[in-house]
Amino acid sequence: MTTAIIGVGNIGKSVARHLVDGGERVVLAARDESNATALANELGELASATSVEKAITDADVVVFAVWLDTLKDLIAQHAGLLRGKVVVDPSNPVAQDANGGVVRTLPDRQSSGSVVAGLLPAEAHFVKASGALHQFGGLNGKVVDASDARTAVGATGG
Ligand SMILES: NC(=O)c1ccc[n+]([C@@H]2O[C@H](COP(=O)([O-])OP(=O)(O)OC[C@H]3O[C@@H](n4cnc5c(N)ncnc54)[C@H](OP(=O)(O)O)[C@@H]3O)[C@@H](O)[C@H]2O)c1
Repeated sequence: MTTAIIGVGNIGKSVARHLVDGGERVVLAARDESNATALANELGELASATSVEKAITDADVVVFAVWLDTLKDLIAQHAGLLRGKVVVDPSNPVAQDANGGVVRTLPDRQSSGSVVAGLLPAEAHFVKASGALHQFGGLNGKVVDASDARTAVGATGG
């Protein structure tokens, strides 16, 4: 199985390293392809770097390790390629402010998971990860069809 990891910052780097340590193949992409290439070189032969489009195309599972606003843009750009893929969303409904702090970007009680699931094609299989949904009996770590996730994802947290 091949996993595309879009974004090679804190979360993407860590997930990629764990997967490669477990013998899994990863395809890495980032805004600046040289950042993905640097991580692929560090991780060895199970890792490679390419464009976002090619990484999604080549993978069975796609982990979007990017901030929520970026994630929304990337889904809009690549929705067609996500049909039939398992899409893993670690995002929280936050963005960085000018002072390096974190601000909530969605209304209270609206989760990033519900927004992301709503943007995916119905044929994608949605997985919410690393959010706060476990606190609300939500979908953390479970695989569901995107259409089901739209109604099932909790109203708060990730
Ligand atoms: N950090 C945590 O502890 C934590 C915990 C739980 C959940 N999360 C969530 O995980 C997500 C990622 O957080 P992070 O801390 O890993 O972020 P980060 O360190 O800032 O990394 C963001 C990554 O996104 C890439 N990126 C930005 N725009 C892109 C684009 N248009 N196309 C492709 N890649 C793009 C960046 O590429 P470049 O490298 O080229 O700049 C970078 O590698 C966020 O949604 C966050 O809420 C984070």
